[in-house]
Amino acid sequence: MKKLKIGIAGLGTVGKGVYEILRKDAEILAQKSQTIFEVVAVSSRSKKDFVDSKIKFYPNAMDLATDPEIDVVVEVIGGGDLAKNLMIAALKNGKEFVTANKALLAEHGFELAELAEASKTHVGFEAAVAGATPIIKAFKEGLAANEITEFYAILNGTCNFILSKMKDENLDFAPVLKEAQDLGFAELDPTFDIKGIDTAHKLALLAAIASGTKPAFNQLTIEGIDEISIHDIKLADELGYKIKLLAIYKNLGDSCQQAVYPALVKNSEKIAQVDSSFNAILTNASNAGLSLTIGRGAGGFPTGSAVVSDLLDIASGRSTYMFGKKAAELADAKILPIANRVGKYFVRLTVDKKLAQETNFFEAVFGSKIKVESAAFFDAEEEIICGFLTDAQKEQNVVEALKALDSSLVKAAKFLRVEKTDF
Ligand SMILES: NC(=O)c1ccc[n+]([C@@H]2O[C@H](COP(=O)([O-])OP(=O)(O)OC[C@H]3O[C@@H](n4cnc5c(N)ncnc54)[C@H](OP(=O)(O)O)[C@@H]3O)[C@@H](O)[C@H]2O)c1
Repeated sequence: MKKLKIGIAGLGTVGKGVYEILRKDAEILAQKSQTIFEVVAVSSRSKKDFVDSKIKFYPNAMDLATDPEIDVVVEVIGGGDLAKNLMIAALKNGKEFVTANKALLAEHGFELAELAEASKTHVGFEAAVAGATPIIKAFKEGLAANEITEFYAILNGTCNFILSKMKDENLDFAPVLKEAQDLGFAELDPTFDIKGIDTAHKLALLAAIASGTKPAFNQLTIEGIDEISIHDIKLADELGYKIKLLAIYKNLGDSCQQAVYPALVKNSEKIAQVDSSFNAILTNASNAGLSLTIGRGAGGFPTGSAVVSDLLDIASGRSTYMFGKKAAELADAKILPIANRVGKYFVRLTVDKKLAQETNFFEAVFGSKIKVESAAFFDAEEEIICGFLTDAQKEQNVVEALKALDSSLVKAAKFLRVEKTDF
């Protein structure tokens, strides 16, 4: 039986998961690929007891790129410069490469895809998007005979956990974030997760495959969940909606929408029912129609399972172009400016109670340009907090209407987008 010799850079949550899957499932992996997967070298800042002492240990991860014994480098260190340098060096040396590093690929994926092709090697990154949930290969292979016309995805388990818990237990954002950190669901510095950046890295990769364009992370609209309050969640609930942090891709013909934001989705729609730390991708494809994939987005074994699936592809000669087609054929993405989005909006206003009672409220707030389809209210002591669902509007109109509000009547105003994910 042939051997695939592996070097693992990073032995944290994911690296340990990969190492242990390769060890405990060696027999079944060998049967599936007629290959023995042998870890020949590892790298981390400190040596790990769980690694067989006969395996080479490199304090400098870059040494994995030049070790002639290694066929595949698995990069699960994360972060920027070291991971990028390691990837460039490994590819230049003709090594296959598997990574879970969405940040690296979202920002430099195109150049790295060109380099992999020039070096006649491959890059597997199933683990970089939605962890164990098989979506990269689903887009590149299972749905290859389709145009992917749109997808709506929950790609950050931490945010989904926080939003679900806020709603279920009627809690505000800050205490739930704290609990998520205590439980190990959220990082001590949660910025990348709660500001939507992690989701946007993943969106850039998935949208590139879906649309056959270069990853466009720097052009994305990115909004997180850190300004979602329990009032938003309760008002949305009264109106029959849940709030989900969505990564959205829509092919609009001559342009596309690619954006990350917390959106209202009707309770009855499938993606609204994906709660807790689960990830989900709801896809509309030209021939296949609707598919919904739900799974674990993080954790050692789930993410390790996705990494090992890429190793099986390499062993079996099944690896394909990084973004589904030749890098030279990836076009530049033409992304619709968010101000031109047309759709429904949820508008939340905090209104002085006395003044609200004296005024024709809806007219005073929106004039006649924006129609209110439904509304919910909370009566606080001196204020009324209201949530309105508007008719379909160009986003710019909503922004301008809120800017023009009478500040003596309206104490605070914000809006969220409403998405219709039933197709
Ligand atoms: N955690 C998940 O569930 C998950 C899910 C999907 C994707 N990912 C991605 O997978 C990657 C790894 O995540 P993780 O959660 O496994 O990270 P982690 O637990 O923090 O582990 C990082 C590993 O990299 C090692 N490392 C850090 N700096 C290094 C250096 N300069 N040289 C050599 N080794 C170094 C660390 O060594 P020490 O152990 O010695 O400190 C550690 O073993 C990231 O790109 C992440 O975005 C993670």
